[in-house]
Amino acid sequence: MTNAPFTSTYRRSLDQPEEFWAEAARDIDWIKPWDTVLDRSATPVARWFAGGELNTCYNALDRHADGGRGDQAALIYDSPVTDTVETFTYSELRDQVATFAGVLSSRGVGYGDRVIIYMPMIPQTVIAMLACARLGAVHSVVFGGFASRELATRIDDCGPKVIVSASCGIEVSRVIEYKPLLDAAIELAEHKPDYCIIYQRDMLTADMQPGRDVDWQEEMAQAAPHDCVPVAATDPLYILYTSGTTGEPKGIIRDNGGHAVALKWTMANIYDVRPGEVYWAASDVGWVVGHSYIVYAPLLHGCTTVLYEGKPVGTPDAGAFWRVIAEHGVVTMFTAPTAIRAIRQQDPEGELANAYDLSKLRALFLAGERCDTNTLNWAGEQLDVPVIDHWWQTETGWAIAATCLGFEKTPIIPGSPGRPAPGWMPSVIRSDGTEAPHGEIGALCMKLPLPPGALPNLWNAEERFVTTYLSRYPGFYESADAGYIDEQGYIFVMARTDDIINVAGHRLSNGAVEEVLAAHPDVAECAVVGVADALKGQLPVGLLVLKVGAERTNHEVVSDVIAAVRHEIGPVAAFKAAIVVDRLPKTRSGKILRATIVRIADGEPWKMPATVDDPAIFDEIAEALATIGYPAIRE
Ligand code: COA
Ligand code: AMP
Repeated sequence: MTNAPFTSTYRRSLDQPEEFWAEAARDIDWIKPWDTVLDRSATPVARWFAGGELNTCYNALDRHADGGRGDQAALIYDSPVTDTVETFTYSELRDQVATFAGVLSSRGVGYGDRVIIYMPMIPQTVIAMLACARLGAVHSVVFGGFASRELATRIDDCGPKVIVSASCGIEVSRVIEYKPLLDAAIELAEHKPDYCIIYQRDMLTADMQPGRDVDWQEEMAQAAPHDCVPVAATDPLYILYTSGTTGEPKGIIRDNGGHAVALKWTMANIYDVRPGEVYWAASDVGWVVGHSYIVYAPLLHGCTTVLYEGKPVGTPDAGAFWRVIAEHGVVTMFTAPTAIRAIRQQDPEGELANAYDLSKLRALFLAGERCDTNTLNWAGEQLDVPVIDHWWQTETGWAIAATCLGFEKTPIIPGSPGRPAPGWMPSVIRSDGTEAPHGEIGALCMKLPLPPGALPNLWNAEERFVTTYLSRYPGFYESADAGYIDEQGYIFVMARTDDIINVAGHRLSNGAVEEVLAAHPDVAECAVVGVADALKGQLPVGLLVLKVGAERTNHEVVSDVIAAVRHEIGPVAAFKAAIVVDRLPKTRSGKILRATIVRIADGEPWKMPATVDDPAIFDEIAEALATIGYPAIRE
């Protein structure tokens, strides 16, 4: 069978969006059909499948478990850090999820209640997410690498009835005790959950607070399974917090109906994967990629998903990804370019890739950060399959641009994540609001309405939603990425337009780190910039101006702030470099010239900004950066 042409499908998705997505929605089981495919009267953005009712967990598990896939593997948990491989069939996973839904229900969780999940990469995390979906409760997964303060902010914003956590996570060389971090977060937060359900792992037993903390295993042994609760298509399925430009994270909402329709559709059309095949996203369930492509999309499609608790390198070596592909027969893999760079750094000749049978693999997809062509080409040479960069954001939930493999073959252009996927209408807008011609860089924006699956709002912050995304360019969603579109419609994503740093595919807010630095008693002023890093893409570097009469030495303040960021935001911020300077370069209106500092740190040519009174300030900055090794020698 030949695949459909991409261009006509794309056109149809824009010309007849209602028909296009209503057709896709037939692949989802609905309890009640929608009244309107696209409710354009709703505010602030149009809502998909308004009036419809469904249950996402039913679509991800029960319909497969009861529809002939009961004995098929739904989830393979592969954990080199605990030396475990465990498979759950669709029936087994459904039963565990139904029982855990019973546990949550017995602890007072019902339709619309929030549940925070602060967990490592273990099957219980997926079980907890799906159990919330089963009940119509709203989960909010908080990445395990975040520290207590970040967790506390999220607890206060979404007000969970219950928090689900585990005794520990396992990093390459250490066990991370989660419970003290959780206890400290609850202490810091104003909102207190009624219960914490703790999964005790074999390697560490957490102390429990009587009355508040209950044991996962004991609760599971007593609970009765709970059935799927019908929810509105427009009801929230989850909240996922992502960095904003301030220290306050934004709670991205994902709804049930549009999400299920869009994600199911992507599996065949973007990833070209069939039900029954093994799909692996080597990300973390704490990120959007993990939500969409470890948990929901592969299960909605009846695939086997792999949950990998390990790293690309060090668990035990740079062949770890290739072992997983070979051992489980993965047909499509998804990871971040930084993971490939880490592998390449340790195994430049790809000897470990040659040692495994990778014959089942058909494609590797990359996302999360700009993909350099060296990395893309190297991966292609090792794996001998198409390597596909695709562009998306926590907000969009799935790819805005990709080479969609479910259609007739279209060329891949290294450096570009491809052309817009069906449903997305990107445009490059100049600062004066006019549309830029092909090839000119500007703000990458998406014409409204956004397709199903994209965020309908921010949790508790509708005004922020409108001002952040919809106000600057009326009629468009502002992605906060800058880039251009070429004559053939290929998108090139060049940089963020806001103060966001991308560290190893994770979004980090300059503002959030600056807040921590500014809280040091000896710091008068500070700036955080993202400098280029050969492995992680970018790394944060802090510049500190100390108060006159500072009590601690420069060296001590630097150590203090590094420790503070690790403690307050978490190790995942990878904040390991800061310098003390006499002053910061600013415009006359007081705006710190971060972009120029970045160019100096990266060893890129830079122009003296016209608004600076004393050009010598940049020599001072360059000298200070040189003391910590910038510009670094790069490939
Ligand atoms: N819980 C607790 N700590 C965590 C954590 C978690 N879930 N995840 C990471 N950390 C810690 C790490 O131990 C490390 O701590 P350290 O400073 O003591 O070494 C720190 O946070 C930074 O972690 P990480 O970003 O994983 O860096 P690394 O140097 O350990 O590994 C890579 C580098 C490239 C291998 C790693 O960044 C990676 O696998 N990246 C892929 C990212 C990805 O999948 N992104 C998803 C988007 S698709
Ligand atoms: P997150 O919401 O954490 O997934 O981060 C989204 C941001 O990562 C985007 O706004 C981009 O800045 C960046 N990003 C993600 N994928 C790509 C890509 N394929 N190419 C360039 N940048 C990307």
